[in-house]
Amino acid sequence: MSEEWIWWKHGIIYHIYPLSFYDSNGDGIGDIPGVIEKLPYLKELGVDAIWFSPLYESPFADGGYDISNFRNIDTRFGSIDDFRKLTEYAHTLGIRVIMDLVMNHTSIQHDWFIESNSSTENDKSDWYIWHPGKNGKKPNNWKSAIGGSAWTYSSERKQYYYHSFFHYQPDLNWRNKQMREEYFKQVIYWLDLGVDGFRLDVVNLIVKDKKFRNAPLLSSFPFLSTKSYTRNRPKSFKVLKQLRKIVDGYQDRLLLGEIYAPPPGDSTVAARYLGSDTPLLNLAFDFSLIYRLWNPKSYMRVIIRALELIPEGGWPCNVFSNHDLLRYLNRPGFYWFREEKAKLIATLLLTLKGTPVLYYGDEIGMRNTSLRFSELQDPTGKKYWPFYKGRDRARTPMQWNRDLHAGFSKVKPWIPLNPDYLQRNIESQSESEKSLLTFYRKLIKVRKEYLPLQMGNWIPQIEGENGIMAYSRVYENECLLIVLNFRNYYKSPVFSEDAQVKVLISTHRNTEETTHLNILRLFPFEGTIFQVID
Ligand code: BGC
Repeated sequence: MSEEWIWWKHGIIYHIYPLSFYDSNGDGIGDIPGVIEKLPYLKELGVDAIWFSPLYESPFADGGYDISNFRNIDTRFGSIDDFRKLTEYAHTLGIRVIMDLVMNHTSIQHDWFIESNSSTENDKSDWYIWHPGKNGKKPNNWKSAIGGSAWTYSSERKQYYYHSFFHYQPDLNWRNKQMREEYFKQVIYWLDLGVDGFRLDVVNLIVKDKKFRNAPLLSSFPFLSTKSYTRNRPKSFKVLKQLRKIVDGYQDRLLLGEIYAPPPGDSTVAARYLGSDTPLLNLAFDFSLIYRLWNPKSYMRVIIRALELIPEGGWPCNVFSNHDLLRYLNRPGFYWFREEKAKLIATLLLTLKGTPVLYYGDEIGMRNTSLRFSELQDPTGKKYWPFYKGRDRARTPMQWNRDLHAGFSKVKPWIPLNPDYLQRNIESQSESEKSLLTFYRKLIKVRKEYLPLQMGNWIPQIEGENGIMAYSRVYENECLLIVLNFRNYYKSPVFSEDAQVKVLISTHRNTEETTHLNILRLFPFEGTIFQVID
């Protein structure tokens, strides 16, 4: 397959938070056989790949991002055989399977940590980041992402260990060769099993300063600044090069990095991992779009900047919601006219240059759910309540239909449903011509049919002035024009040139309808993909 046509460039990735997709065995928790059952739904929607948040064995102190055994599937989700069946069936449907790869840390319950913690002289004593401390105090001022010192004292080993996140998620030491080799064996294990790629969790955090230097005050909070000693270290690029080499031993596998840069986002960071000579990652999440409010000028600004920064050989990756950053429809600026705005965001996501990533439920406009403290599972919510109510609000069960428990499970789900499932669910939206889900299905179809939307250049036409975003996508001799009206008013956009255009899909117009750009009057919150015919 030519690099130009590789699946992860033109495909659509669908992100599943496995606890919440579909419960097949009546324990209130989503599972792999449940996903198998729902694969035809995903096929019909038109997705090309699924990315699973971690399915591995875990005590689930951080939603599965605290792994106690990388080689096994957690029993709450099923077995390794279930996973094999899933992969095989997905492949017969033409859907790829992407696993989450948490390289930065393990659970405190992982065998590696238990051994490493047992003494200063065991085989794995250097597999985590240990330090004796300084004058009876913590080694330095490094802070964990969730606040407080990143160092915890082990009374067993009588040293401190480093954790970028919670104390039960000790960071691995990527400077240790044996650990690296063992870790990579697990990667090979999953690749051999047929996995099509990995989403690399917080991959720009994996290596820390060798000298343990104190961070400048502000940047000692990892999520406040990128200028710290605990991220984007030169050695992490070397580690990724090794991983790249392994993955390239297999055909067409994807490495998609979560490259965290704190709000307002900084596309330069993600771009560094997409370098041209030997791209380390194929795709990198750059959250600058997620952080924007409802403002076409600022959307345009960050899109243009990201595209300028991505080196040749790199490819953009666009996303609006995920399991950490909550549902986009609950962000400031989205409060009014959410239904209309959801359709505009769908149009934007599927027509920008790059690979779109949909978070489960985005296709029906799922929202954050209000939860009580006693209902929370997410440790960040528990820690910062009531100021921050945690990420579970965006991890609630998929709303399949109006039945009891929204058709997600036969019993009470692991976390409360959003009560709006009675109105907002897949079954009812499937039946309605005007629903968001129907719109998504049609949009995805158009995207698959018209190559400019998958592969074309992206050329800005109106950069947010007057509430309007317009851009063209051009591939070979075909040109499409996407026009989005962000305002609740009729608008007459001014284009630099006139052209005759035909509607391919629109929130307001009939398909096939033709018009001229110089007489175009947009409906409030209109989003339309035109084909330029003359
Ligand atoms: C994941 C989070 C997780 C953290 C620690 C991330 O960025 O997406 O859900 O809590 O890494 O693994």
